[in-house]
Amino acid sequence: MTLLIACSSRAEQFAAEVRALDPDLEIRVAPQVGNAAGVHYALVWQPPSGLLSTLPNLQLIVSVGAGVDSLLDDPTLPVVPLVRFVDNDLTARMAEYVVLNVLLHHRRMTEFRELQARRLWKYLPEPAARDIRVGIMGLGVLGSAAAAALRPFGYQLRGWTRTPKTIEGVQCFSGAHLLEPFLAETDILVSVLPLTPQTHGLLNRTLFRKLSLRGRSPLLPGPVLINAGRGGLQIDADILAALNSGELYAASLDVFETEPLPPTSPFWSHPRVVVTPHNAAESAPAAIARYAVRQIRTHARGGKLENVVHRARGY
Ligand code: NDP
Ligand code: OXD
Repeated sequence: MTLLIACSSRAEQFAAEVRALDPDLEIRVAPQVGNAAGVHYALVWQPPSGLLSTLPNLQLIVSVGAGVDSLLDDPTLPVVPLVRFVDNDLTARMAEYVVLNVLLHHRRMTEFRELQARRLWKYLPEPAARDIRVGIMGLGVLGSAAAAALRPFGYQLRGWTRTPKTIEGVQCFSGAHLLEPFLAETDILVSVLPLTPQTHGLLNRTLFRKLSLRGRSPLLPGPVLINAGRGGLQIDADILAALNSGELYAASLDVFETEPLPPTSPFWSHPRVVVTPHNAAESAPAAIARYAVRQIRTHARGGKLENVVHRARGY
């Protein structure tokens, strides 16, 4: 059996890890595809559009990403099972990112950093965690882990999903018709949504104006946005406008409409914005290799694959 690794980064690392785990699997690394008819499996991250359609005997696609929006954007993507990466290591990293950034804005750290730079010893009042409502958009693998990690701090947790959910300690809202009530009682908005036609551009100025409409703690200067889902969920210009008008107090952005974020972007130097280079939850090569080999073996013995993407749903 042959695995093609087609990844825009770390391809050789993945190849080395897979070889160590399964020496019987023939590995090819794109662009060296060789005889296309001999490829049965593909491990991919941002492969060139159209590449997978050149593999007539492809049986399974394993996505290095938990998000598969860029794969589904390829109209020639072969209609074979597509599984996305789900792993405890990745999930734990995302939970860390969310806790870190919720605490950072709750405790007004961007302001303290500014005061530090100016050598100013100034007291800033901060609300208690129990007076802050954290709303998580997306309570799937990553969002529900983030909610669990935030819970011990005492935040009031809300979540918004496509289908109804029941999660202990989280007030759950589902569907487009409950988005406004969810936003009205959210002070810190965390997005770990997948990018789909329904979620594209959702994080816009109209939405920001609906945040915190019902009863925010006067000690939190304004609503906060944290986006670690995909850049396509947000309108960068709207975030800037909302920050500059005070509709948003602060933001942590791991993803952007254009990645890498261009050096000219005002986000880089905005005092209330924390920029990270799409590494809220970086997946470790060894974990990816273990996952790919497990899925390939399951497929080879006719077993049930895990985390199969529902193509019509888009995630
Ligand atoms: P899941 O598929 O497990 O969860 C997705 C969640 O989003 C579900 O709760 C789903 O609702 C909800 N959702 C989807 N569409 C809608 C909609 N139209 N309205 C409301 N809710 C919706 O995905 P993961 O948690 O594993 O990953 C989420 C995303 O995180 C990935 O798609 C990827 O884009 C991003 N990501 C970013 C990383 C980074 O480093 N920045 C790293 C890894 C992932 P329901 O439960 O009803 O299905
Ligand atoms: C992912 C990512 O989707 O890293 O896994 O963005």
